[in-house]
Amino acid sequence: MSMQEFIRAFLMAKGQWVRRGLTFIGVILDSLTIVYTPWVYKTVFDSLSSGSIDAPEKIVWGLWTMLAIGLLRFGIVKMEIYFQDATSYHIGYNLRRSLLNKLLRLPFSFFDQKKTGDLMSVLVKDVQAVQDGTGFGVLLFSIDTILLVSTLTIMFKISTRLSLAVLFLALPVIGLLIIYNRKVLPKHEALQKLSGDLHSVAQESISGVRVVKSFVREDYEQQRFNKVNDQVYNSNMELVRLNSFFYPSLDFINTAIILMVLIIGGREIILGRMTIGGLMAFTSYSTTVYWVTREVAWLTEIVQQTVAGAKRIFAIVDSKEHDQSLTGLASKTKGHIVFDQVDFGYDEDQKILEDFSLEIKPGETVALLGLTGSGKSTVANLLARFYEPTKGKIMLDGKSLSSWQLKSLRDNIGFVFQDNFLFSETVKQNILLGSKIKEETLDECLQVAQADRFIKALPLGKETILGERGVGLSGGEKQRVSIARALVRDPQIIIFDDASSSLDLRTEKELHMELGRFFGKRTVLLITQRVSTAKTADRIVVLENGHITEIGSHQELLKNQGLYAKLHNLQEEVHTIGS
Ligand SMILES: Nc1ncnc2c1ncn2[C@@H]1O[C@H](COP(=O)(O)OP(=O)(O)O)[C@@H](O)[C@H]1O
Ligand SMILES: [Mg+2]
Repeated sequence: MSMQEFIRAFLMAKGQWVRRGLTFIGVILDSLTIVYTPWVYKTVFDSLSSGSIDAPEKIVWGLWTMLAIGLLRFGIVKMEIYFQDATSYHIGYNLRRSLLNKLLRLPFSFFDQKKTGDLMSVLVKDVQAVQDGTGFGVLLFSIDTILLVSTLTIMFKISTRLSLAVLFLALPVIGLLIIYNRKVLPKHEALQKLSGDLHSVAQESISGVRVVKSFVREDYEQQRFNKVNDQVYNSNMELVRLNSFFYPSLDFINTAIILMVLIIGGREIILGRMTIGGLMAFTSYSTTVYWVTREVAWLTEIVQQTVAGAKRIFAIVDSKEHDQSLTGLASKTKGHIVFDQVDFGYDEDQKILEDFSLEIKPGETVALLGLTGSGKSTVANLLARFYEPTKGKIMLDGKSLSSWQLKSLRDNIGFVFQDNFLFSETVKQNILLGSKIKEETLDECLQVAQADRFIKALPLGKETILGERGVGLSGGEKQRVSIARALVRDPQIIIFDDASSSLDLRTEKELHMELGRFFGKRTVLLITQRVSTAKTADRIVVLENGHITEIGSHQELLKNQGLYAKLHNLQEEVHTIGS
């Protein structure tokens, strides 16, 4: 078992050392009172059976001492629990913060391979496990260690012979512990992974509930969920089977130990080598040793869950993030974009763009037209450095993208994606995303985006809270909100990725008239499959399977008789039928 992760997690309680110190003082005092109590019993019982003159005095002393210990323990345990829990919650708080901080800075490629539910499970369940393990786990383990050492010392003091006998009988306990650990660890790792799967399936069923219902696939989803849920249950049952054998075995060994203590101890008393009080205390100490062992067994389980959780947490925390450094160019761009012989693939063995070269001048509006899957969105992804090209260079204002500060680069670009995510916040918050912008500017952008009218009609206008992912708005309305979102920060470069595909042709036409004015001196990349959108651009670039096949104006490309002209004829036909 690798303890490295455990220690690393334990050390995450930064600034918590005063609390930890106080907890530790509590731990020592707590253990001392536990160890001292049977000794008081011993005095009381020995006095009772001795019949000596000072017996009543000693008994009264014993009773007062026990009351004092009881009261003292109240304060000690309170302090222990308070500072201990405070530290654990702080570790949980820190872990969640660093996890989210990291997740928000990881590149797109990380999320291409991860399931949301899995990440949620790390954020909730694994954090909880680490919080428990580095918190009360460490606390109990410290108490147990102190107890074990001090109890054994006193036991040897009372009777070496008896102590050796107890230790001999305790050997099978150690054997059992080792076997148990070997069997249980892999089960916990598997279980924590399964818990991630469970979260993923549940999260998908709920997020995709509209698809599930419309295709009447409730039973299918239920089965998909049941499959993982069954696995979780079965894994848990395997643990139950192990535990239901392990703990009674420990109990049985304990009974055997107590029996032997009574038999050998009784003989020692008869031979005059031990007092009744001594035997009482010894039995009490043996029980302590037993409970400590039982607790340590349970703690190893907690530690294993902690290690499994910490591994998953640190795998995320240690993932390579995008360069967040604040060095590099940070200024308003002129909007001069150059793709120079760029190759790119999401997987190494599949090229999506090949030898892609394109220059877009400041203030120019270029349409990128192609069929689905031709690589249009990929071009936008590369320009924003969501991914890095495998070959070639991309330059902004004559400087390679990587020499720009990432934040500044992305601030310079206004995006309208194909699939726009809206948060469950107000319309206004969704558009501003934290930027401070004058109300007039916002209204102006809403008007350009053709969003002002329908937003006014909402119950609370701009202050209306949207459902998750913008539930309550139509596809076209969502698109116009996200267009406003891109415009409001006054970017020099604007990328529309199929951004008007959900709009009806009339709204689209009105939108393009408004946008045309707004674009002004900005550089615009219009990604589209519609000839009607593309022809509003200064220049049209046709993309086929990651290669540029045609470049020119609307008229030039019509003459060219290529894909553009074909699409034009096809789409014109549809329009004619449609009108
Ligand atoms: N995140 C991704 N991981 C792997 N493959 C991807 C990813 N995104 C897109 N692709 C693939 O890259 C190709 C081009 O996609 P894309 O640029 O989105 O096309 P377009 O926008 O022209 O429809 C497609 O074959 C698509 O399956
Ligand atoms: Mg696309």
